[in-house]
Amino acid sequence: MKTDQYSIQSKLSHLNALKQKSEKIACLTAYDASFSRLLERQGIEVILVGDSLGMVCQGENSTLPVTMDHMIYHTHCVTKGIQQALLISDMPYQSYTTAQQALTHAHQLIQAGAEMVKLEGAHVDIIKTIRDENIAVCAHLGLLPQSIEHLEGYKVQGRDTHSAERIFQDALAVEKAGAQLLVLECIPAKLAAEISQHLAIPVIGIGAGPDCDGQVLVLYDILNLDVGRKPRFVKNFMQGAASIDDAIKNYRDAVKFQNYPGDEHCY
Ligand code: KIV
Repeated sequence: MKTDQYSIQSKLSHLNALKQKSEKIACLTAYDASFSRLLERQGIEVILVGDSLGMVCQGENSTLPVTMDHMIYHTHCVTKGIQQALLISDMPYQSYTTAQQALTHAHQLIQAGAEMVKLEGAHVDIIKTIRDENIAVCAHLGLLPQSIEHLEGYKVQGRDTHSAERIFQDALAVEKAGAQLLVLECIPAKLAAEISQHLAIPVIGIGAGPDCDGQVLVLYDILNLDVGRKPRFVKNFMQGAASIDDAIKNYRDAVKFQNYPGDEHCY
């Protein structure tokens, strides 16, 4: 049982307070207890059990093969390592095709130890249904890896006026539906800055420029574990670090002191 100090409400209030005082929020993904312990030790405030685990742990080409069983297993592992950080788990591909199915699966992730569930797209009715059951929701807009079959590859979204306006309106809609956090992936920095300014909830960016309220990256990317082609926004924090602990601390400091992302990481 979590004590009051570490309740989901107090963690969310803390993140909201950081946004209010313009202190950036440091977030990373984790998939097991060893790494989540390490992230917590270095003061990472939000830990995401991302369905990116399909690519970095399972070696798949996309996040689509990830199942609820995988997410439950990894969430359970990550929960062992943390107390202070907010733990978010991704709802995997096709696990929220109806409100009832989404609710059942959100409950399963919470039972596994998640404190908030994340879903891709502006699924306003599903967000409302989950929030009505008092489960915290993080929305995810911009580049949606679970929709990769309908996109022309992993490309920047919201470059033209029409799609930028759609993302902006979707952001307003998911906040209104009850989302308490928003992830923006791979959109122009200017658009992300406008959304972050307009929303009351904290906005966490990945490839979305420096003016979001916080930053998230895939842990294995900052540790330079995957030698494959890296998106522009990825930075290797192992460079110049004496240990993995050091690299994570350097990432946190770079986010907090606004040294990351730089112009070279933005669209
Ligand atoms: O699955 C994941 O790791 C994510 C982040 C990239 C935001 O959704």
